[in-house]
Amino acid sequence: MRRFEGKTVFVTGGATGIGLATARRFVLEGAAAVVMGRRADVGEAAVAELEAAGGRALFVRGDVASEADVVRCVDEAIAAFGRIDVLVNNAAMSTSVDFVAGETSEWKPVFDVIAFGTYFCTRTVARHMIEACVRGAIVNVSSINSYRALPMTSHYNAAKGAADQLTRCTAVELAPHGIRVNAVNPGFVDTPMSVVDGENELETDWFKDIYVERRKIPQARAGGPEEIASVVAFLASDDASYMCGATVPVDGGLSLTF
Ligand SMILES: NC(=O)c1ccc[n+]([C@@H]2O[C@H](COP(=O)([O-])OP(=O)(O)OC[C@H]3O[C@@H](n4cnc5c(N)ncnc54)[C@H](O)[C@@H]3O)[C@@H](O)[C@H]2O)c1
Repeated sequence: MRRFEGKTVFVTGGATGIGLATARRFVLEGAAAVVMGRRADVGEAAVAELEAAGGRALFVRGDVASEADVVRCVDEAIAAFGRIDVLVNNAAMSTSVDFVAGETSEWKPVFDVIAFGTYFCTRTVARHMIEACVRGAIVNVSSINSYRALPMTSHYNAAKGAADQLTRCTAVELAPHGIRVNAVNPGFVDTPMSVVDGENELETDWFKDIYVERRKIPQARAGGPEEIASVVAFLASDDASYMCGATVPVDGGLSLTF
């Protein structure tokens, strides 16, 4: 299937994990991929991999939490490929912060990247799509944590809740322009984000006990980044032409059991 022939996808945080798998999926389906991130070495390595897969790719260096960076990176992408047809708001970070003992300086960066990053990128790309008459698609990579209440991650969970609500609100505001906005909400996925304090949480005894052996995840395993990427590509494609403002769990059934 080459559903994105002649199109350009802009993936934030696209140099690693789910973002890279997503960029790869779009490239394999004919798109040119723009990877936005903060680290040039990692970004250039991702571009080399995407080009080796036979695609056209570009790394743009910037921080999604900076509106000026976002505007510059979007301009660079348009200068290189002419237009942006698909935006994937994927960049995020997570830390462990106790709500009471934690500091604002720990809370704010997570909100800045996830909530404000999604806002800056969506608004900047939507303005371009509207001006260029692109009937595009925007996919937000959220999380099932957007509706779970877990300790030590109130900042991440609240920011993902904002991403879900931004998905719905921007879907309504952009639909008259022919732009569709939807989200995927992954559960546990094997990526660099699974490594917390130097330990891969998917290899811990508690993960294996609760989520695998006791089947809190009914499919009894974590997902692979490509299993999220395929749903992102579906939501961005004409196959999802009547989907507007949906938040789609991709979690092996985990959100059914908690
Ligand atoms: N891995 C999981 O279990 C899981 C579960 C649910 C949701 N998610 C979501 O999936 C998305 C991708 O995460 P991942 O698991 O692939 O981890 P990841 O750490 O590989 O990907 C996050 C990417 O975002 C980039 N990034 C972070 N802050 C940025 C900033 N300010 N500006 C630009 N880029 C920035 C990182 O450098 C990285 O490349 C995230 O939105 C994450 O919240 C992941």
